[in-house]
Amino acid sequence: MIRQAKVDIHRISHICIRVRDLEKARHFYVDLLGFVETERDGDHLYLRGVEEAQHHSLVLKRGDAPGTCYIAFRVARPEELEKAINVFNEYGLRYRKFSERGVKDAVIFEDPEGMPILLYFDMEQVGDLRLKFHMYRGLPPVRLAHVNFVVNDLEREAKFYMDAFGFMETEYFLDENGQKFVTWLTRKGDSHEVAIAKGRRGPAMHHFTFYVHDVRDVIRAADIMASAGLWDSIERGPGRHGATQGFYIYLRDLDGNRLEFFTGDYLILDPDKWKPIGWTHEQARYRADFWGRATPQSWYEAFPVEDIMTGELKSRE
Ligand SMILES: [Fe+2]
Repeated sequence: MIRQAKVDIHRISHICIRVRDLEKARHFYVDLLGFVETERDGDHLYLRGVEEAQHHSLVLKRGDAPGTCYIAFRVARPEELEKAINVFNEYGLRYRKFSERGVKDAVIFEDPEGMPILLYFDMEQVGDLRLKFHMYRGLPPVRLAHVNFVVNDLEREAKFYMDAFGFMETEYFLDENGQKFVTWLTRKGDSHEVAIAKGRRGPAMHHFTFYVHDVRDVIRAADIMASAGLWDSIERGPGRHGATQGFYIYLRDLDGNRLEFFTGDYLILDPDKWKPIGWTHEQARYRADFWGRATPQSWYEAFPVEDIMTGELKSRE
């Protein structure tokens, strides 16, 4: 545990996104990129990375439009779920009990800015593919590294994740007026598990990211897209970020959802000694891409998230 928290969050665990055609999405994620398929039911495909023993870290759910159903964190012990209910009541947040394949007891809630978040303690373990190199395909994806989403009130949102869940800030961007507009937060102690950006049309999902072991795996993502004729799926990179230091590539899946593959970030060895790295407007040339290359306009698009009660995508007007 890094910081004291009202709810002891252990780590980021998984994400559920919407795709129109499960079979096509399976081809993209499993056949081309090398996600490991755990199982499927009627409307869901449950995937994981090669070093994840848990039932799933990426759920593809059939839906009529791309978007994000929820982001999930594992809590440190069962009783943290009860403490979470107290926090939801304290902050006036909507929540309900939830279960999914592999997870019997979970709670889903809307954070202060309306992002759908799931908490659980216990997920079925199905075994990782550590050292089973003969079973690797694609890159392969290793584990869920982080998510990036957009909210209207960044200050309020970041304060919630730090005060209620014990996240610590590792880096941030300032705009031309010296106002913070992106923050990177971690709980388990790598460069980030959550990045939150300020945007007028939040809450919205920007991207989710799987760790890979090597820069060559980042480049392989581009090679695989190109040789499969999916040039339009390569949105940005390969490159190196200034903030977080990681090598990256951003792809769009066949429905337009944005995913990133990422490697080469750092660990926070001494959280109590860490001073968040602030990037000023004067450093804009190289803070997002350390090599100074421009970001394509399409990369600024974000995606709707589901309402936790109805399962419908929230309007972003
Ligand atoms: Fe990212």
